[in-house]
Amino acid sequence: MGLRRRNWVFLFAQLTGFALGSHQSPTPAPGHDVLRYINPLIGSNNGGNVFAGASLPYGMAKAVADVDGQNTSGFSTDGSNVTGFSALHDAGTGGNPSLGNFPLFPQYCSEDVLDNCNFLRATRAVHCLNDSVVAQPGYFALTLENGIHAEMTTTEHAALYRFNFPPATAANGSELSPLILVDLTDLWKSRQNASISVDASSARIKANGTFLPSFGAGSYMSYFCADFAGASIRDSGVWVNNRGGTEPKELFVTRGFNNFYLEAGGFVRFGRPGNGTVNVRVGVSYVSTERACESAQREIPDPLGGFDEIRRHAESAWRGKLSPISIQPGGTSEDLQTSFWSGVYRAMLDPQDLTDENPLWESDEPYFDSFYCIWDSFRAQHPFLTIIDPNTQSRMVRSLLDTYKHEGWLPDCRMSLCKGWTQGGSNADVVLADAYVKNLTGIDWEVAYEAMVNDAENEPLEWSYEGRGGLQSWKRLNYIPYLDFDYLGFGTNSRSISRTLEYSYNDFCLSTLAKGLQKEDYVKYRSRAGNWHNLYKDDQTSFINGTDTGFVGFFQPRHLNGTWGYQDPIACSALASWCSLTSNPSETFESSVWEYQFYVPHDMAALIDLLGGPDAFVSRLDFFHTSGLADMGNEPVFLTVYQYHYAGRPALSSRRAHSYIPSLFNASNNGLPGNDDSGAMGAFTVFSMMGLFPNPGQDVYLIIAPFFEAVHITHPTTNKTATIRNINFDHTYKNIYIQKATLNGRRYTKSWISHDFFTQGMTLELTLGDTESDWGRHERDLPPSLSKLLR
Ligand SMILES: *[C@@H]1O[C@H](CO)[C@@H](O)[C@H](O)[C@H]1NC(C)=O
Ligand SMILES: *[C@@H]1O[C@H](CO)[C@@H](O)[C@H](O)[C@H]1NC(C)=O
Ligand SMILES: *[C@@H]1O[C@H](CO)[C@@H](O)[C@H](O)[C@H]1NC(C)=O
Ligand SMILES: *[C@@H]1O[C@H](CO)[C@@H](O)[C@H](O)[C@H]1NC(C)=O
Ligand SMILES: *[C@@H]1O[C@H](CO)[C@@H](O)[C@H](O)[C@H]1NC(C)=O
Ligand SMILES: *[C@@H]1O[C@H](CO)[C@@H](O)[C@H](O)[C@H]1NC(C)=O
Ligand SMILES: *[C@@H]1O[C@H](CO)[C@@H](O)[C@H](O)[C@H]1NC(C)=O
Ligand SMILES: *[C@@H]1O[C@H](CO)[C@@H](O)[C@H](O)[C@H]1NC(C)=O
Ligand SMILES: *[C@@H]1O[C@H](CO)[C@@H](O)[C@H](O)[C@H]1NC(C)=O
Ligand SMILES: *[C@@H]1O[C@H](CO)[C@@H](O)[C@H](O)[C@H]1NC(C)=O
Ligand SMILES: *[C@@H]1O[C@H](CO)[C@@H](O)[C@H](O)[C@H]1NC(C)=O
Ligand SMILES: *[C@@H]1O[C@H](CO)[C@@H](O)[C@H](O)[C@H]1NC(C)=O
Repeated sequence: MGLRRRNWVFLFAQLTGFALGSHQSPTPAPGHDVLRYINPLIGSNNGGNVFAGASLPYGMAKAVADVDGQNTSGFSTDGSNVTGFSALHDAGTGGNPSLGNFPLFPQYCSEDVLDNCNFLRATRAVHCLNDSVVAQPGYFALTLENGIHAEMTTTEHAALYRFNFPPATAANGSELSPLILVDLTDLWKSRQNASISVDASSARIKANGTFLPSFGAGSYMSYFCADFAGASIRDSGVWVNNRGGTEPKELFVTRGFNNFYLEAGGFVRFGRPGNGTVNVRVGVSYVSTERACESAQREIPDPLGGFDEIRRHAESAWRGKLSPISIQPGGTSEDLQTSFWSGVYRAMLDPQDLTDENPLWESDEPYFDSFYCIWDSFRAQHPFLTIIDPNTQSRMVRSLLDTYKHEGWLPDCRMSLCKGWTQGGSNADVVLADAYVKNLTGIDWEVAYEAMVNDAENEPLEWSYEGRGGLQSWKRLNYIPYLDFDYLGFGTNSRSISRTLEYSYNDFCLSTLAKGLQKEDYVKYRSRAGNWHNLYKDDQTSFINGTDTGFVGFFQPRHLNGTWGYQDPIACSALASWCSLTSNPSETFESSVWEYQFYVPHDMAALIDLLGGPDAFVSRLDFFHTSGLADMGNEPVFLTVYQYHYAGRPALSSRRAHSYIPSLFNASNNGLPGNDDSGAMGAFTVFSMMGLFPNPGQDVYLIIAPFFEAVHITHPTTNKTATIRNINFDHTYKNIYIQKATLNGRRYTKSWISHDFFTQGMTLELTLGDTESDWGRHERDLPPSLSKLLR
């Protein structure tokens, strides 16, 4: 999903001198350690919404400082204030701020008087020292303006914090007691009700609460367990509003009349230890408080002395996940290498492995959460995981199928154990087809087929969070009508164009699986995959500010009776206004007719014919990318960078990719053009820099000139190493045009390659030059299109 930048984002961008260093670990990693090239702060400002804190790969525990500015994933380098430190987050999403449940906050209370403490979020908020932020895989640290230093690292289900309190005294010279509070809240104050209890002798704090998902329906419960180490306990208690007391030790809060929200929580005060350091071990769970405490004890047995070991464990987990890839930079700048490796890293933060943390059903299958949303992640992130972490990708697919089995539908967007809002198509279909054509193992394809048929045939009552709407029209008219008459289900009655295009591709994906499984209905779905034709209006023109763009023929909305409606082809682009589910819902979702015009991923040949042939198509694609119509900050644009391939002009895809990287995807804190969306932008960057871009759902990677002299990828299960190697590589990127290629030493003229390149460990050698050549231009060398295969 994309979140349109709001004005406040620009406002904070202006405030931000904030060059926060990212490689200032107290224990710097040695020489060529790949972790040196990971900067979790890329995209931490200007709407990237990345998760900048400590996490394991796909980890459930994600610890970071939460701020009161851009806080969708907790932290931002926008210069806003720190309001807490919490251990559940999502990564890169749009929507409301996600999770951030039960934040801790360390402080001194003036004159050591409890009523002088800043309990409330708004009053305790404090800036961190500029340049104090350290963000590295498995580790996050900063110093608050008041001198309190906070460090954190994580295991699967627990976080370990190390708070250092500088010496502080009251007016009469006596030492102040450090206080750490727990707030019964989350980032967007969605808490419905919550309980807390503080154990008087051990000071263990247990909490539970009911919260709302940040982009979905229903509610979820979250559980918390904190233990303190390194300091003597002075006293403890609870607080409500801005008053605290050492009695009682338990509290229940709910929402009052008019949804009234009461701030409340618990606290512990300590005798300040000689070195000023208080460690806090926090276990989190979606199952029970007992589970949260058990996980914490098991995963962090030594909360006092174990910090460095936990951190090293997290670092080596990341090194392991990154180990399939190696690059030969060939003079490529450190910044570009950092963009690359950080993109790889971000692609493995979410979805989160919540196996054994799913309270909704009993199962031996894996459970992953935070598919947020598949509309974003099917395009590059999941295909990327299929290459470098096929075992995990296979477990994610199994989790999707298990969710289908227990909830009746494949998810399209899912977070915090809830169903998230569907953006258009039934995009899990694409993930399943992609896994199928790439031979992922361990998946029950019969169940996958059944789940996809369910999406294609059965309309749910609530298609706002599962399945598809308008299926009667889809089957009868072969398009989704503008202002459909749909009495079967509920959903925002909009997006008729984008849904028609997405459902067409979803049905293509189903036909792929059906054919593979020798189901006869593959023919039916292959035919429905052509439904996009029905919204093509061949005399539609497009004007910008009264000037004719000169392009004729666009997708348009169509009524039930077959007559045409109208949506300005530039509407919903950056040149017009933003369109989403709730803001200005239109016939295209978060993207214009101009952008959706290119979304026929399975039959680009037919689309190119309709649009007047390869040359007309290329000039249309060029106009799109140079007029401000292309929204590089949102995922539907990804494939358009590469679609020149289908017009026999792979050189132009290469030029286009090189024009966007690094100008819009770079290593700065504002180095992403939009929400990272669980690493979707990261995966786009990585694929582009590797020189191969997937057409997801198909066994196709489009080849361009890579950004490195060579890239090696060792397949984690076959152990074979695929190599992309360049002759005449030039790190100033004048030579970005492929002149000729060999695959395993034999001449290779196709502009695309299939997945066995990775599984079989082949070697693709590209000879580069500074002008477009004939390579990949011949008809027989184009990537596949459905209508050509049928011809
Ligand atoms: C720290 O950065 C913020 C945000 O850019 C700025 O407003 C503030 O003046 C800086 N503080 C110092 C001490 O440099
Ligand atoms: C998160 O940001 C929003 C909007 O900037 C703000 O209203 C909210 O209080 C912030 N949350 C925290 C925990 O500061
Ligand atoms: C940060 O806190 C200061 C007061 O300490 C306040 O003036 C400012 O508005 C806060 N910033 C944000 C983004 O809330
Ligand atoms: C100093 O003041 C604190 C409270 O402000 C009080 O608890 C403490 O006993 C005082 N110490 C001395 C030595 O007077
Ligand atoms: C807490 O809130 C949830 C959601 O509003 C509700 O279902 C539940 O009954 C409440 N629990 C208590 C103990 O009030
Ligand atoms: C939440 O905690 C309270 C108080 O400790 C307890 O009574 C209640 O049963 C807990 N709720 C759940 C669902 O665990
Ligand atoms: C602080 O001192 C305690 C003993 O009082 C020790 O156990 C702990 O490891 C020290 N912490 C640090 C960060 O040095
Ligand atoms: C359209 O015209 C307005 C007003 O003259 C101008 O501000 C805007 O930049 C123009 N837009 C484009 C895309 O040319
Ligand atoms: C078709 O339906 C549209 C929308 O309801 C209506 O405006 C139009 O008049 C109808 N046209 C015909 C020919 O029935
Ligand atoms: C980095 O990317 C951002 C976001 O796309 C862009 O605004 C910025 O200009 C880029 N910076 C450089 C130095 O290219
Ligand atoms: C791949 O390497 C791993 C670790 O060395 C080994 O356990 C595994 O059997 C190898 N797989 C194949 C297919 O050779
Ligand atoms: C998948 O397996 C089939 C059957 O063994 C094989 O024909 C095909 O080439 C494989 N595809 C890939 C991408 O490895």
